[in-house]
Amino acid sequence: MALQDMIDLLLTRRSLVARDMCEPGPSAQERDVILQAGARVPDHGKLGPWRFVIFEGDARQKCGEQLASIFQDQEPDADAERVQMERDRLLRAPLVIAVISCVVDHPKIPEWEQLLSVGAVCQNMLLAASAMGYGAQWLTEWYAFDDEANAVLGLREGERTAGYLYFGSMTDKPGERARPALEERVSFWGQS
Ligand SMILES: Cc1cc2nc3c(=O)[nH]c(=O)nc-3n(C[C@H](O)[C@H](O)[C@H](O)COP(=O)(O)O)c2cc1C
Repeated sequence: MALQDMIDLLLTRRSLVARDMCEPGPSAQERDVILQAGARVPDHGKLGPWRFVIFEGDARQKCGEQLASIFQDQEPDADAERVQMERDRLLRAPLVIAVISCVVDHPKIPEWEQLLSVGAVCQNMLLAASAMGYGAQWLTEWYAFDDEANAVLGLREGERTAGYLYFGSMTDKPGERARPALEERVSFWGQS
């Protein structure tokens, strides 16, 4: 990739909402490249404080059944349409990858740095998929924060879900989105 293409990607990347994704998703080979890009992030102390759980094919439906069941237990008054929405969550995209934060106790590397690193993992994966022409979206929704849903995901003691990354082809290209004005966020130290 030429340098300018990379800069263009960084300056124009957009998320595609998962409900607007369609088949085909990334191939197995492309998926592995996305994972490799994810794992190649700044990582103080080479701790690699993350791991990935992949949802493809029927696994999306099977997991959705469990999410819907948890949801229904917590929201017994939810109507059938809403429960079905929970069942179908992971079916919105052909490929879903949960990124798990696995912070370790370390005498020199604080938790904060390990959390920042897993955020970079997610962003690298979004960028890699975007470079391949796929739509991608980082979602947490309710199930990334729910203990029962995290048990379904197989989270171990001390792990947290950084997000579910959804990947698929685009039905439509996303439009622009307002961004924070840089001049409001940038200052030059020493100048008032
Ligand atoms: C950690 C994290 C969690 C997010 N979770 C959600 C979510 O649950 N629902 C949602 O609509 N957007 C969520 N987003 C925002 C989208 O991923 C996306 O960034 C947003 O739609 C803006 O699009 P853009 O990436 O093109 O700027 C989340 C973003 C981050 C960084």
